[in-house]
Amino acid sequence: MAEGITHMTNQPKRYLITAALPYANGLKHVGHLAGAYLPADIYVRYLRAQRRDVAFICGSDEHGTAIPIQAMKEGTTPRAIIDKYHGLIKQNFADLGISFDIYHRTSEPIHHETSREFFTYLNDRGELIVKESEQYYDEEARTFLADRYIVGTCPVCGNHRAYGDQCENCGTSLSPEQLIDPHSTLSGKPPVKKTTKHWYLPLDKHEDFLREWILKEHKDDWRASVVGQCKSWIDGGLQPRAVTRDLDWGVKVPLPDAEGKVLYVWFDAPIGYISATRQWAIDNGKDWKPYWYDKDTKLVHFIGKDNIVFHCIIFPIMLRLHGNILPDNVPANEFLNLEGDKMSTSRSWKLEMQDFIDDFINKENGGPGMADSLRYYLTTIAPESKDSDFTWKGYQDAYKSGLVDNLGNFVNRTFVLMHKLCKGKVPPLHADTLDELDRTMLAAVGSTKTRVEQLIEQYRFREAQFEVIMLADQANKYMQKKEPWIVARTLDETPANQQLIDNCIHVCLQVTANLAILINPFLPFTAKKMLHMMKVVEKMLDWENAGKTNLLSVGYSLRPPELLFRKLEDSEIRAQVEKLQAASEAKQAASAAASSGTGQNTATPPTAATKPGAATGGPVAAAEPKASIAYDDFAKLDLRVGTIVAAEKVEKADKLLKLGVDLGTEVRTIVSGIAQHFRPEDIVGRQVVVVANLAPRKMRGIESNGMILMAEDKTGRLHFVNPAEPVEPGSGVS
Ligand code: 2FM
Ligand code: ZN
Repeated sequence: MAEGITHMTNQPKRYLITAALPYANGLKHVGHLAGAYLPADIYVRYLRAQRRDVAFICGSDEHGTAIPIQAMKEGTTPRAIIDKYHGLIKQNFADLGISFDIYHRTSEPIHHETSREFFTYLNDRGELIVKESEQYYDEEARTFLADRYIVGTCPVCGNHRAYGDQCENCGTSLSPEQLIDPHSTLSGKPPVKKTTKHWYLPLDKHEDFLREWILKEHKDDWRASVVGQCKSWIDGGLQPRAVTRDLDWGVKVPLPDAEGKVLYVWFDAPIGYISATRQWAIDNGKDWKPYWYDKDTKLVHFIGKDNIVFHCIIFPIMLRLHGNILPDNVPANEFLNLEGDKMSTSRSWKLEMQDFIDDFINKENGGPGMADSLRYYLTTIAPESKDSDFTWKGYQDAYKSGLVDNLGNFVNRTFVLMHKLCKGKVPPLHADTLDELDRTMLAAVGSTKTRVEQLIEQYRFREAQFEVIMLADQANKYMQKKEPWIVARTLDETPANQQLIDNCIHVCLQVTANLAILINPFLPFTAKKMLHMMKVVEKMLDWENAGKTNLLSVGYSLRPPELLFRKLEDSEIRAQVEKLQAASEAKQAASAAASSGTGQNTATPPTAATKPGAATGGPVAAAEPKASIAYDDFAKLDLRVGTIVAAEKVEKADKLLKLGVDLGTEVRTIVSGIAQHFRPEDIVGRQVVVVANLAPRKMRGIESNGMILMAEDKTGRLHFVNPAEPVEPGSGVS
């Protein structure tokens, strides 16, 4: 489809909209929200307002090595992990107004059944190949090391903690063979090679189809970044891709000679869209099949850019072989940074949906309306064509200029003036006295609708929302020019001027009704509030009403104004920036403090329960291995025993303690992230091992000169690392 031309003619019969199934291994951040879920929700709300037949599908991706690894970290079972995070993530989405028709789970029997059927269908028709190959194996844990069970150095960026399936630092997709200096995540040991058998999807066989379908048919209507990424995959030479793994957490391979094997998570996860649709159809008395088989269904996958290959190359091949429809578009977004830096869980540089909900929604003076403030800002900075940056200052500015001063201000003034100058009722429009300004303002409503429609249909949500806000801006300016409050002063002398006031307020009210319809896909909570003020039913938000200028009947009395957007205090924004900084510093300090407890030598050897996919009780996380270093590197460390002689809490940093550590010749100030483990008064007098020659670092304004070593047990508790018998402060450790 050429840019600028809409789909308004020739509508598909139904829409199937999917948003990437998030891994249920941890909370998701606002980057995820901006990447897939919010744009999908805007699109779906727009379609629903058009009364189109639409199913909005999402759910938890509950397989893959990410789940048992998280279980090991939290000292629990994979099942407990998915139950916990499925519930939390689902609620986070609901709190932010993401309106899935179903939020399903890949652990459900219907999903296992659907995935097995899919695999069997392909395998029975000879579309999969079986190969034996040598793969990395951990002799101690007695298991093959798939995906995240193996780490090593990324051949592209040098990151020492790259996984066997992907480097999270540079985003490169990897295979375990590509890792330099690979180590098992389970035992920390270098792996050996062992022969195993797997089923592969021969992507190379489908190159012609992909070239035709993506690089020709969709070269203009898919985002350039998506087509570009597909092109480099195809040009790089497609290889057969393994669709099974030696694991026991996942969908069992439905073949007698596949004992101990499950489907690769990226094989079953997208099938999750199908199983979720089946469940949704069961729940709603519908037939799921047309959604996946009828060519008159428009399938759109909303994803982040790291998922492009799976949704544009691998899954479409699977769908085609299975006789299903193909996606019409895959509007993948780029990434969202935070305050100029990449979001990272390991560095605690992140803003989780939960954090925002706790601090702005589930709070006095919060409420669901504040969800719209986040939706609004994330859409203004939507990473549609390049990475973008979330900053708290940007959030505050966008909130103030777009929502408080613009949309909120216009609606509020309209209602205040309507009550003051028109007795709280919709005033009539006097055709004789209507002027050019009134007419231009009324016309803007229709043209905005057309532009918003075109932009949404092209997945350009950032510009679409901007158009709506610009309509409010134009309306503010219109009112400012009309000055009905000044005209009101002339009424004693010229009562006929009431007509001018009526016209202005009438126009403003009709614009308000239109703003509610147009903003609804973006800010659904605000649209609801506006409906309440206008005393109209939800049906008014139907898209076909947009552009009409008779939505509110003359003489209809409306409610008093309610503030749409509350004031956001500078202190709230400052607190967020400080919180982010403090969490990141504490994380650094904590990992530094705990670093002696996470080295390879202290890793707990795996037991039966720690084996990948162990579904029952008490596994122990092995420390993540690090690349080996030369003795000379180790010798650079100046390790000394010190005695803590002073300890106090650091203000406004609940994880940090400021310590005075006697090193024999001096008392060092060291800031350490141990405040949640020890009370200051309990640790004075304890001996610690100090890295005495670490370059100074400022934390919360305090210069820290060194680092103390701590051991971290499987529950995450910290323990002192010190000599068995007290020694002179300053004694060397080697
Ligand atoms: O990247 C991820 O978080 C994956 N769990 C996305 C899966 S999308 C789909 F295929 F299910
Ligand atoms: Zn890398």
